[in-house]
Amino acid sequence: MNRIKIENVSYRYQSRYQTTYVLKEVNAQFHSGQFCVIEGKSGSGKTTMLSLLAGLDLPSAGTIYLDGKSYQELDRDELRRKHLSIIFQNYNLFPMLTVQENIAYPFGLTGQKKGNWKERVNEILEGVGLDKTMLKKYPGMLSGGEQQRVAIARTIASGAPIILADEPTGNLDTANSRRIVENLERLSHEDGRCVILVTHDPDIAQRADVLYRMNDGQMIEKQDRTCGEQSIEK
Ligand SMILES: Nc1ncnc2c1ncn2[C@@H]1O[C@H](COP(=O)(O)OP(=O)(O)OP(=O)(O)O)[C@@H](O)[C@H]1O
Ligand SMILES: [Mg+2]
Repeated sequence: MNRIKIENVSYRYQSRYQTTYVLKEVNAQFHSGQFCVIEGKSGSGKTTMLSLLAGLDLPSAGTIYLDGKSYQELDRDELRRKHLSIIFQNYNLFPMLTVQENIAYPFGLTGQKKGNWKERVNEILEGVGLDKTMLKKYPGMLSGGEQQRVAIARTIASGAPIILADEPTGNLDTANSRRIVENLERLSHEDGRCVILVTHDPDIAQRADVLYRMNDGQMIEKQDRTCGEQSIEK
């Protein structure tokens, strides 16, 4: 079953002086267990698309569905709490919380902060290539790439079935970028989560199960390696 379906979605930014049309009648579907990538050049509307998928705003026209229910009908706060985890382009870590508290934050939301949660945080931290000396530091004491990895660790900790990631490797060197992409791929292929990643990096794009390219307000499907495994319902 498709988790997220986008139907004829258009979006425009409206200010007093001008209207910017960013998305024009976009259609797409994203399934559980898929590593999905949306690529496109700067300004093509990738972050706008993710904001709509995250329910931070509603389309100017058209509909987005989660499991067949439109975002208009859903409680969008609950959508973000229970179903989604978002890695923002600017990380959005909590500046007053330590690295350990940032990563463990979703445990508090989902009621799983018990037992050996500290060990679980350590494991996740190691998985994104950071060591334990980071745990007591605050985000302001970390480099951009380190903050990015803490944001990814927090998403892994969340257990959310749908992960939205906006340029999650934008500040990382090749080795760390590869590690993060492999982490996200594993979350889709092994844990069955639906991962939707935005990038302009062609090396990441070519690893996608499903690849969409944004251009001129359109989002065109470029490759689907899951052909036959998922039913495409239009
Ligand atoms: N709040 C806003 N008000 C008006 N226009 C906006 C606003 N945010 C974005 N835009 C415009 O919408 C278009 C799409 O922006 P968006 O941030 O979605 O692009 P992007 O593909 O994520 O770019 P990048 O790769 O640089 O992050 C751009 O032309 C941008 O200038
Ligand atoms: Mg962007």
